[in-house]
Amino acid sequence: MTSRDAVGAPLELVDLDRELSWAEHELPQRERTRHVHSLHPYLGKFVPQLVEVCLHRHFAPGQRILDPFAGSGTTLVECSTFGARSAGVDVSAFNVLLARVKSARPDPAVPAALAEAITRIDDVAPAPTTSTYLKEWLHPDALADLLRYRALIDPSSVAADVMRVVLSRSARSARRAPHHNLESPRRPETGPYWCHKHRRECRPTSDARQFLRRYTTDTVARLTEYAGLRHDVDAVVHHADSRTVDLGTTFDGVITSPPYPGRIDYHDQHRYAFDLLGLHGWQDREIGAPSRGLSRRAIESYCDDVASVFANARRFLRPGAPVIIVIDDVRDLYDRILELSGLTIVDERRRHVDRRTGRRDAGYYEAVIHAVA
Ligand SMILES: C[S@@+](CC[C@H](N)C(=O)[O-])C[C@H]1O[C@@H](n2cnc3c(N)ncnc32)[C@H](O)[C@@H]1O
Repeated sequence: MTSRDAVGAPLELVDLDRELSWAEHELPQRERTRHVHSLHPYLGKFVPQLVEVCLHRHFAPGQRILDPFAGSGTTLVECSTFGARSAGVDVSAFNVLLARVKSARPDPAVPAALAEAITRIDDVAPAPTTSTYLKEWLHPDALADLLRYRALIDPSSVAADVMRVVLSRSARSARRAPHHNLESPRRPETGPYWCHKHRRECRPTSDARQFLRRYTTDTVARLTEYAGLRHDVDAVVHHADSRTVDLGTTFDGVITSPPYPGRIDYHDQHRYAFDLLGLHGWQDREIGAPSRGLSRRAIESYCDDVASVFANARRFLRPGAPVIIVIDDVRDLYDRILELSGLTIVDERRRHVDRRTGRRDAGYYEAVIHAVA
């Protein structure tokens, strides 16, 4: 996308959207991970404050907002605290589970059900698993406790999905992954290793129960805080392909961050959850999946796929509805994507992303595109 020009000034300063560019000290991690936003780790998440600012800029409470790439549900959660109705779509069954748990109307019976479950862990036998991934990535004692907890999940209970999220988060923490690379560990650590995060020798854990207990308490606290902030509005999450989904209603706009080619595998990052929870994967429908590579053909089909998502979303948007797209468009693909999808660009600004996650040490710029249907 062509940025506006200016005499001698660096483009990123000309186009910089200062309201959306926070330095680490202005927006510390505890703010970015407020209430349900850190119910479970998810690589590739929006900063909630970004959605909050966009809602105030472009929308009003009572309107209905769509996120066709809902991921972990950041847009939906922020819509609910803003007072807007929302719907999200995601192709990954785990992301849908997580987004539903985070954005659902609070059920007052959940905290007691969660607290009770953890006290009954020794009452049940671990249900067996055939997953070689789980056997390789978890110490047998840790896996046994996770399988006990899984056996406690009653599918008809109001707390079933929240328990699934607690189970998945505990499995992620108990994995034989080095502490400095929980996002994309390459191989299981089976003995002591040098930990770049803690700057000392660390060991993989055999104790998943500590995480089940800790995340039970943390989840109850986060859900309770969110319950006090949330308006009584609908937040619907569809498990579907956004290129073809029938949303069945009209929306006042979109706030979204699409996947980018070859960058993040949105299924594989939660492999432990798919295996533990018996979820079905739709990898073949995941747009931009790294397994497709970065050939010219792969990039072309990425453009066609994202354009199909926006063209499909446009069928459900009122004319003139704002479409806000946040993307690190290093290949300048979005001019073409917007043209293909029939959206009209109004404005494009950049936001500076300060050092955020993992060991990435330099900031970078993301485009914030404002288009209309
Ligand atoms: C950048 S992430 C969105 C993150 C989200 N903004 C958040 O804060 O959690 C992109 C999402 O698009 C989803 N996705 C990829 N292909 C899709 C498709 N065909 N239909 C719907 N969702 C898709 C991925 O599973 C991933 O969760």
